[in-house]
Amino acid sequence: MLIRNAPDLKDCDVTDEGLYLKRRQFIAGAAGISFAGIGGATPAAAAPLKFKPNRMEIDETKTPLADVTGYNNFYEFGTGKEDPAKYAKMMRSRPWTLSIDGLCERPGSVDIDELIRRFPLEERIYRMRCVEAWSMVIPWVGLPLANLLKSVGPKSNAKYVAFETLRDPRQMPGQRGSVIQWPYREALRLDEAMNPLVLLAVGLYGQTLPNQNGAPIRLVVPWKYGFKGIKSIVRIRLTDRRPPTSWQMLAPAEYGFYGNVNPAVDHPRWSQAKERRIGEFFRRKTLPFNGYGEQVAHLYRGLDPRKLY
Ligand code: MTE
Repeated sequence: MLIRNAPDLKDCDVTDEGLYLKRRQFIAGAAGISFAGIGGATPAAAAPLKFKPNRMEIDETKTPLADVTGYNNFYEFGTGKEDPAKYAKMMRSRPWTLSIDGLCERPGSVDIDELIRRFPLEERIYRMRCVEAWSMVIPWVGLPLANLLKSVGPKSNAKYVAFETLRDPRQMPGQRGSVIQWPYREALRLDEAMNPLVLLAVGLYGQTLPNQNGAPIRLVVPWKYGFKGIKSIVRIRLTDRRPPTSWQMLAPAEYGFYGNVNPAVDHPRWSQAKERRIGEFFRRKTLPFNGYGEQVAHLYRGLDPRKLY
């Protein structure tokens, strides 16, 4: 059995308040530790993963591994693009428990390696577009989110899926500051989450996900701006209300709930019409829904495209 039933759950499987309080005490004691002195940019040695080969080849050059793992956004480890490669090794991505709760028939929690054993993995080469107007092409390895959601049985009143990143300032020094209201949060409408393009990635380039890319498990939604792709997820919750999301909480005038890639709608401070593909010199035109319109445009019929950003 993958997801343990609620009655089988020990309280340490979900939110253990005692541990949380202990962590808080530890954090208070460790608050003086700085980022300095933790160097090196090589991702931890990664084991090969077993997966089905890619079914959706795209005719674009893959972004070199060194860029995929060396130029990142992961504010838990600093706001600089090179900070995650330097500091994310402070995070322990094993053992790791993912909880799923809220409006579903079989809430529970699962160890990440158990999850990887139970769900077939696939490779998907996706175009990724960051709101800051850079882009990459990344060969992800992961499981369709829909498969995990179906396994817990969403209730008929579930309308949204909310995600949360680990909150532990001991391992994530960026969380000792308050640039974001931690933990990092994201959400999708349930019908978006069930779209077969959405992956929970556990690897890239055939290897276990490096910490700086969101180990051990992160969301990949290729038709949305990168900020929707929440990293290092510990909790997934089904709910009937639209959940608050980190960037909307921080700057509601700049980031919408949907975050769909839309070259026709500018960010209030810059154009979204073009993008810089990492590794290329000339900028290229950004495609509506990042080129995935055929698979997803139907999800947004009748909605104001300006609201989709
Ligand atoms: N997830 C967490 N927990 N913290 C973050 O700061 N940054 C987001 C997203 N997921 C972020 C996160 C942003 S803004 C982007 S563009 C992508 O991660 C970057 O993913 P990558 O570094 O793997 O390219």
